[in-house]
This record gives sequence, structure tokens and C-alpha cells, in this order.
Amino acid sequence: MNFYELVKTRESCRDYSPRQVEREKLDRALGAALAAPSACNGQPWRYTVVIGEEKRAELLPLIGGTSMNKFARNAPVLIVVEQTATSVSASLGGKHVGEDFRPFDIGMSVMQLCLAASAEGLSTCIIGMLKIAEIKKLYSMKGAPCLAVALGYAAEEGKPPRGKQRKSAEDVLSFIE
Ligand SMILES: Cc1cc2nc3c(=O)[nH]c(=O)nc-3n(C[C@H](O)[C@H](O)[C@H](O)COP(=O)(O)O)c2cc1C
Repeated sequence: MNFYELVKTRESCRDYSPRQVEREKLDRALGAALAAPSACNGQPWRYTVVIGEEKRAELLPLIGGTSMNKFARNAPVLIVVEQTATSVSASLGGKHVGEDFRPFDIGMSVMQLCLAASAEGLSTCIIGMLKIAEIKKLYSMKGAPCLAVALGYAAEEGKPPRGKQRKSAEDVLSFIE
């Protein structure tokens, strides 16, 4: 699958099969996340991968507690993304323009994770509604959990993508020549 097909077919999955995810596929997808660009190469992320049934059950109420995110209970892999302290150069760069670049960096890293997972035939859904303080406590995190990713095989593998509902290019894209 070429890159553009990958971008088209990646979509949030909210219905997972119990099929276990092969470790080498997971490792490759995580490797792509860690290879993402970041401001001053600060890499302000840490990934905690939760696989075992009991361990997932501990985490679920902290991410899948809302009715919207109940689907997470069927995902065989749950990944918590933590925003960590950044390097001195990255924080200086950020101060220079009055921005904390870490959320951008994390977004790019998580996107690479999701696209790489798709390339492996896996499905993902990013989850933004987290009980941050509780997750931080559960894993004694130094940083701040900011996103979770549900990952696994889709219940209906090979189903054609739903198609993207996006703003029209006219509304969000302009060229200045
Ligand atoms: C930062 C972020 C947080 C999100 N949080 C949730 C969430 O809590 N629950 C959920 O079902 N989807 C969540 N999503 C998925 C979006 O709803 C989804 O990406 C969007 O509707 C576009 O659909 P697509 O991913 O299928 O292309 C999140 C996506 C992002 C980027």
C-alpha cells in the first residue's frame, strides 16, 4: 500500500477483534512513533503499552469510562502517551515564540504510530478523554498522560473504509503565488 492509500484507509476503529497483536508488528509501529520529528529533537513523549487483560482492566475506567469510549474494553492493546519534560533547547525554542511545542511533537509521534499500525494491518483509535491525575498515579508517571491509543485488529478486517468526512479544500486551503 502506498502512502496515500495508507492515509485514506487509516480511520479510527471502535470495534476490535479479540485477536492478539503480534509483538513484532507492535514493535515496528512503536518504532515509527519514536522516530517522529520534534522541536529541537526534544522527543517529549513516553509510551506505556498495556497488554495483559488484568492490567488493561485497571486502566479502562480511566480511559473508557465515558460511554463514548467504552469500545476501548475490546482493544487488546492500550497505549498511554505521556508528555514529558522537554530538553533545554526545545523549551528555549518554545519560549522564543511563546509556544510549548510539545503537544505538536506528540501529535506527530502519535500520527506516525497510527499510520504505521495501519501499514501493519492493525487499527487504532486515539482517545483524548483521560482521567489524567488517576493515570499518573496508577503508573507513577513523572510526566502528564495526555492521550491514549486503542490498538488491535478490527472486528471486521478488510471492511472498506467509511470514507473521510472533512472540510472542503476550498475552506481550509489557500495558495498564495
Ligand atoms: C487528539 C484526539 C483525541 C481524540 N479523542 C477521541 C476520543 O476520546 N474518543 C474517540 O472515539 N475518538 C477520539 N478521537 C478520534 C477522532 O474522533 C477521529 O480521528 C475523527 O473523528 C476523524 O475520524 P478518523 O480518525 O476515522 O479519520 C480523537 C482524535 C484525536 C486526534
